Amino acid sequence: MPTRTWFPTHIYCEPLQPAGLAKFNTELADECRNLRDYDKGGRKWSEKNYPGGYTSYASMNELHRFSSTFAALEKKFLKHARAFAKTLEFDLRGRTVRMTDCWVNIMPPTAAHSLHLHPLAFISGTYYVATPPGCSGLKFEDPRLERFMAAPPRLPDAKLANRIHVTYPAEAGNVILFESWLRHEVAANRVEEERISISFNLNWS
Ligand code: NI
Repeated sequence: MPTRTWFPTHIYCEPLQPAGLAKFNTELADECRNLRDYDKGGRKWSEKNYPGGYTSYASMNELHRFSSTFAALEKKFLKHARAFAKTLEFDLRGRTVRMTDCWVNIMPPTAAHSLHLHPLAFISGTYYVATPPGCSGLKFEDPRLERFMAAPPRLPDAKLANRIHVTYPAEAGNVILFESWLRHEVAANRVEEERISISFNLNWS
C-alpha cells in the first residue's frame, strides 16, 4: 500500500470487570443519587453550569479520597488506565498513573454536556453506571478538525477511521478512556430515565 496511516487517536472501551456488573451498578447508582441529595453546593452549581442535570465536578471532585466505594473504583479504573497507557507506549519514567479527580454526572431528560476537553490531565475517562435504552452516547471529534480548511467532506460510507466524529454508545458497565486533549460531548438526554456516569482525570507523577 503506497499510503500508510500515522498519528492515530486512541480510544479504549472495556467492561469494568468480567462479571457481577448489574448488582454492582445498581448499588453504585444509589450511591450517586445519595451524593446528589447530600451535595447542596453541587446542585446549586449545576443549576447554572449543567442545566437540567447534576454533576459533582465543582463541589465533590475527589470522591476517591472520601468514599470507600470510589476508592475501590479508583483501583479498577487504574488497572484499565495502565493497560491503555501501555497501548499508547508512554514512557512514564518510573512514575505512577494517578487519579486526580473523580466526579459523578446525572443527566435527566434534556441535560446535555457540550463540547469540551479535560485540562491538567493526560488520560481521562468515564464509567457508565446507568444507561437507559436510547440515552446519548459519548461523541468524540477529530482533533485536527480546525486544520481541515479546504478539505472536502467525507463520503457518507467512509470507513469509521476516516470520519470526523465517532460516537461510543453509553453502556452501563463499560469504561471509556481517551487522551485528555480529545474533545468530546454528550448530546441532550432524550429518555425519561436518568443517565448516570462517573468521570475521572489521571496524571502521572
Ligand atoms: Ni468530559
